[in-house]
Amino acid sequence: MINIKGRHLLTLLDYSTREIEYLLDLSRDLKRAKYAGTEEKKLNGKNVVILFQKTSTRTRCAFEVAALDQGAHVTYIGADGSQMGIKESIADTARVLGRMYDAIEFRCFKQADCDELAKYAGVPVYNGLSELYHPTQMIADYMTMREKFGHDLKGKKVVFFGDARNNVANSLMICAAKLGVHFVACGPKELWPAKDLIAKCEEIAKETGSKLEFEEDPMKAAKGAHVLYTDIWVSMGEPKEIWEQRIKLLQPYQVNSKLFEVADKEAIFMHCLPSYHDLKTDIGKDIHEKFGLSEMEVSNEVFESKRSWVFEEAENRMHSIKAIMVATLS
Ligand code: CP
Ligand code: NVA
Repeated sequence: MINIKGRHLLTLLDYSTREIEYLLDLSRDLKRAKYAGTEEKKLNGKNVVILFQKTSTRTRCAFEVAALDQGAHVTYIGADGSQMGIKESIADTARVLGRMYDAIEFRCFKQADCDELAKYAGVPVYNGLSELYHPTQMIADYMTMREKFGHDLKGKKVVFFGDARNNVANSLMICAAKLGVHFVACGPKELWPAKDLIAKCEEIAKETGSKLEFEEDPMKAAKGAHVLYTDIWVSMGEPKEIWEQRIKLLQPYQVNSKLFEVADKEAIFMHCLPSYHDLKTDIGKDIHEKFGLSEMEVSNEVFESKRSWVFEEAENRMHSIKAIMVATLS
């Protein structure tokens, strides 16, 4: 029997393989129930506050729709929408919100702030993305992989190309280790995950049979891969001056059709989104003017192809965040 009622979700390092599998199963069940029109409201009368120090489309909307579907009420607080940080400490804010709400989602600049909020809140805190981790994204991502490759992902090869030590890459590696997945972090050595995180994941991998690899050659990494995953080259919270250096470092790691030629014939493309795959964004246009690139971490061809599961993945953010709230609150 799995019971994660009352638990925080700060990083999936804190969750066992069985607990993650339970969240994946529940995400699937809740998705089916919504499609079948048989969803039962398990969060009637609950109140959830969602705090965002950084912008969001998917995470915010997923929390709002998931909570409302389940009968809960939601308060959204944007970057300058509360006293937190400016006039009131995180510890004090946590104790106030914890007395009014049943759970708190927090998208923050520093993981330490999320941990601090969790320490004082007295109610579950969900990390909605920090500089280190993006745990709610992972339930959606591995749920999406299950939809494509079946329930047991053991031995499937998932390759992350690009800034392989960002929040999404770190979390993909952790979850791969927990689920027995073969994970490859592919990028220049200076952007490989931190040594202590690798050591922790390798310990976990020993028990689950997962294989973790670190590779500088994108063609080698893509060989036989089932999932080709990438993310933007400069994350929220990083200075814009870093673009030039990142472009130089990461251009060879763009996910494009060349990589799919050597991947598994069933291989899919995944991306947490948002993505710079064309010139329809302000930042995309700005980078084009300065550096001449018209697509960045993924070619538009791959992004728009049948291989691309990015919108299934985005939809699954809602079903999986619903599962996280139902499992920890009902
Ligand atoms: N993938 C993701 O977290 O998207 P948002 O930044 O839109 O929430
Ligand atoms: N690495 C990206 C993920 C966005 C969902 C960022 O932190 O901006």
